[in-house]
Amino acid sequence: MQTDPVKQKSAAKLKESLLQLRSIHIDPLERKWVNITLGMVALFVSIIMIDALVHGIHAPSNVETIDSARLHLSKEFAEDNLGVRVDDQGRITVRMVAGRYSFFPKYIEVPAEKTITFRWVSMDVLHGVHIPMTNMSTMIEPGYVAQITTSFPKPGEYPLLCNEYCGLGHNHMWSNISVVAKEDWSAPATSPVKGESENE
Ligand code: CUA
Repeated sequence: MQTDPVKQKSAAKLKESLLQLRSIHIDPLERKWVNITLGMVALFVSIIMIDALVHGIHAPSNVETIDSARLHLSKEFAEDNLGVRVDDQGRITVRMVAGRYSFFPKYIEVPAEKTITFRWVSMDVLHGVHIPMTNMSTMIEPGYVAQITTSFPKPGEYPLLCNEYCGLGHNHMWSNISVVAKEDWSAPATSPVKGESENE
């Protein structure tokens, strides 16, 4: 097989520049510090990578669209359907709406050590949601459904904060999640599905 002349040329060029780089005089003390700095960069990058892998941190990748102006008319995000729901297979889903300046419902109770899927929508502008001590941090863009799967390691009161500037009340936009021990938690009774035109 013949090697590509272009590739050959660039390989030669690379070799040449590496040789040039080597011929530059670097003070031994400076070289030492360069190595220490590179070592620190490598250490920090690996800490971030390992932490991300261990704690399941990754970029949110759910792409699902919704009409933000008609949330109250949608089946999934109608007021009656918000909050904690458990399906027949025992999967827990929390549906919440973000709007200036709160998360709705204002208060929810979920079990610790269980996988919980959060589904978020915005009814007005761009919001964010962050729960400290978990891998949960995502933007809530109007027109899209943000979905995150997480679990709470320990019972306690967790704050739920908006982390995207959304207006003058942004720093007051937060609510609370109560995480209870899984033995003490019981699935909320779901309200019966209402007829489509009942509230009109
Ligand atoms: Cu909502 Cu900041």
